[in-house]
Amino acid sequence: MSPAGRPPRRRAQRPPAGQPGWARDLTSREAELAARLADDDPDDDDWGDEDEGQRDSLTDVPGGIRLQKVLAAAGIGSRRHCEQLIADGRVAVDGEIVRRFGARVDPQHQVIRVDGRRIPAREDLVYIALNKPAGVLTTMSDSRGRATMADLLGDVAERLYHVGRLDYDTEGLMLLMNDGELAHRLAHPRFGVPKTYLAEVSGPVPRDLARQLVGGIELDDGVASADKFRVVERLGTRALVEITLHEGRKHIVKRMLAAAGHPVSRLVRTRVGPIALGPLRPGTTRHLSVKEVGDLYAAVGL
Ligand code: URA
Repeated sequence: MSPAGRPPRRRAQRPPAGQPGWARDLTSREAELAARLADDDPDDDDWGDEDEGQRDSLTDVPGGIRLQKVLAAAGIGSRRHCEQLIADGRVAVDGEIVRRFGARVDPQHQVIRVDGRRIPAREDLVYIALNKPAGVLTTMSDSRGRATMADLLGDVAERLYHVGRLDYDTEGLMLLMNDGELAHRLAHPRFGVPKTYLAEVSGPVPRDLARQLVGGIELDDGVASADKFRVVERLGTRALVEITLHEGRKHIVKRMLAAAGHPVSRLVRTRVGPIALGPLRPGTTRHLSVKEVGDLYAAVGL
């Protein structure tokens, strides 16, 4: 903690010197992608003119980047592996299977899927998991000078949307991204993305608590129900419980457990849809993997 009682400020890593100028303000993952794409030499065609006789119906995008290079840059695998995926008919661009290695695509505007799963091909998109500590607001600024997520994210913060909110004293997984459509869907109740929390509550917890919570519990603003509930550990007068729900109402977990007679003393979000908090240290961030981003797209039908 800093003298002001704030968590340490963690700046996004700068790309190494020698990176293309336009990549300089990007975070490490973006810069890595940008650098890999920037070496796209229009004359560099591993497959020479062999492609010429193999044109499929995909029209090359003028100034586009070779598909295998986009896949490799997005972290799907080596260029050779990506070529094999293309050859095997596992890659689609805007809904059309592309088997031609030389196809030039526009990762900014085209939707590229491998085995039906969308890949984050746009090099300007960032997807971050943050382990929010207690005592941090899930905003990017605060007129009262309290610690916010911007203090943990550094320069990249202003470009990110955060998916939903956590209470000031709640800890755990926050997803942040500059992909507006995905962030919107993940937060919107219509898409019903489940969130899982670990809660320390007053005990002892009766056997039928799961039935009560899953069956629906009356709150001031209507009934709320959990998708899943289990007791993780009984600690004498306290208990550690895990609850999964796709509700987005304010203080919903605390209100449900309090209404059931088990007020929460500590709350940690451990999962948002397919993304697990895992061993991420409090106050730190990590970039989501290509697979995790694909899983998020799939969770909200993108
Ligand atoms: N439910 C709560 O009560 N608080 C949170 O921060 C999140 C869900």
